[in-house]
Amino acid sequence: MQTLVTGGAGFIGSNLVDRLLAGGHTVRVLDDLFTGFRENISPSAEFFEGNVADEALVRDAVAGCEVVFHQAAHKAVQRSVEAPLTTDMANTHGTLTVLKAALDAGVRRVVYASSSSVYGGAEVVPTPESQVLMPRSPYAVSKLAAEHYCRVFAELYGLETVALRYFNVYGRRQRPDSTYAAVIPLFIDALLSGHRPTVHGDGGQSRDFTYIEDVVDANLAAATAPADVCAGKAYNVAGGDETSLLDLLAALGRILEVVPEPNFAPPRAGDVRRSRGDGAAATRDLGFTCRVPLDEGLRATVDWLRTR
Ligand SMILES: NC(=O)c1ccc[n+]([C@@H]2O[C@H](COP(=O)([O-])OP(=O)(O)OC[C@H]3O[C@@H](n4cnc5c(N)ncnc54)[C@H](O)[C@@H]3O)[C@@H](O)[C@H]2O)c1
Repeated sequence: MQTLVTGGAGFIGSNLVDRLLAGGHTVRVLDDLFTGFRENISPSAEFFEGNVADEALVRDAVAGCEVVFHQAAHKAVQRSVEAPLTTDMANTHGTLTVLKAALDAGVRRVVYASSSSVYGGAEVVPTPESQVLMPRSPYAVSKLAAEHYCRVFAELYGLETVALRYFNVYGRRQRPDSTYAAVIPLFIDALLSGHRPTVHGDGGQSRDFTYIEDVVDANLAAATAPADVCAGKAYNVAGGDETSLLDLLAALGRILEVVPEPNFAPPRAGDVRRSRGDGAAATRDLGFTCRVPLDEGLRATVDWLRTR
């Protein structure tokens, strides 16, 4: 099938592009290289360089596509705190632009990359999709606003949309050297280079780490699941385990055969204490379940970072 991956030069998007190409699909990438890298874009994909909020460009990129995987976004929570307007333009207006162009072009389905941040620290853990949504940063508000646009486009115009709420994704091509790098590549990079990893707070805060190949599988499942079941809905994509940052460090220490000695820094404003997603709805409706255990995913991530 003909597909478009927005954000296809980024971490998640580029892994998805590679898998789509391997599956024999035709792939376009739309990306403005804000946090993505040209070197991530497969030469077998057709590249549209520019902004998801650029109507004319998006119209060209979606023409003739059956499925759009909308991954492009300004992703860093901290950046959104510092620059809420640009985050909103990319994430909320960008998604609306993609949805409108997809509708006009007769795209069958848009799969949207949402985020567990929409829960904002839910009381029930593991958290099901029915929990109260209380985003706590401009980033999280924008991801939720775009989710609502997806639902409204399904209900109002009949465009098939599926939102996937990713929980802390990690794996190949997630870089430690970006401005707001994620904790797993930061920890691995510190341990590989003999530095002390920085832990914000007491390290007892937990996350539900989800391996990139599972996230790619979730996208493929969301592209084909029956519309009468999933259109207009949002699903957790969650590894399913709750791991504290100190346990994560210990696991990496075992893999790298070092004893991690963290530096403790003040807690970060807005950090939630516990995060773990309930994946039952995705299993029921999309036929999708995360399969890669943390230890296996961490080993593959260490191998990738070692070869960089
Ligand atoms: N990585 C995670 O743990 C995680 C968790 C929850 C949700 N998400 C969502 O998954 C998606 C992909 O995240 P990622 O981790 O691969 O991040 P990333 O920063 O590596 O990728 C995002 C890509 O989008 C591109 N982009 C950003 N703004 C754009 C714009 N206005 N126009 C065109 N391209 C633009 C960037 O250049 C980059 O290539 C995002 O929507 C993010 O909100 C990620």
